[in-house]
Amino acid sequence: MTVALPKGRIANEVLAIFKKIFNEDFEFESRKLILKKAGFTFLNVRNWDVATYVEKQAADIGVVGFDVITELRSDVLELLDLGLGKCRISVGGIKGDESYKKKSEIVVASKLKNIAKEYFSKKGIPAQIIKLNGSIELAPLVGLSDVIVDIVETGSTLKENGLEEKEVIMHSSARLIANKNSFLTKKPQILELVERIREANGA
Ligand code: PRP
Repeated sequence: MTVALPKGRIANEVLAIFKKIFNEDFEFESRKLILKKAGFTFLNVRNWDVATYVEKQAADIGVVGFDVITELRSDVLELLDLGLGKCRISVGGIKGDESYKKKSEIVVASKLKNIAKEYFSKKGIPAQIIKLNGSIELAPLVGLSDVIVDIVETGSTLKENGLEEKEVIMHSSARLIANKNSFLTKKPQILELVERIREANGA
């Protein structure tokens, strides 16, 4: 079974769960992108690419943030909420400044373009979304946007830049996902693994 993991902290936390289940060390060797162990092939991929690997069946299962699958509208099966990487997707803006609420069209900077677009359109608020790739908090500080839609974990990035959380759009956490076809052909193995992960993770 092939498992796509998002590079970094979440991958390490998931590999620690596998260690607990199989009583063996699971660790990517430095710079290696593939780890084969105990009948599994783990792929070390970028967070934003996990869903693509799973959707295209380059991996049978994977771990990815709920925010990412929502933004990408990925056609995958969601198997389990791992409760890792908890965060919110929120509207943020300059502290104490509510003037964006009175504008006929607001300018929103975000990495999560679809989520931002859908949120404001459901509220009936005309919004122009500017897609950025990082350091989103900078945009309202230099007048590039009125507000941002971004990931908030501890809230310290907002705070340290004189911004505040204005509206919570959604909550997110890491999900175990599966390719739809793999789920059909490998159902017993996948379900057994989900059960073991659930137990080991205390979820
Ligand atoms: C994310 C997010 C915020 C920050 C939130 O950025 O975009 O900037 O983390 O975390 P906090 O609430 O705990 O401060 P990331 O580190 O992924 O970098 P980015 O600027 O490339 O988006």
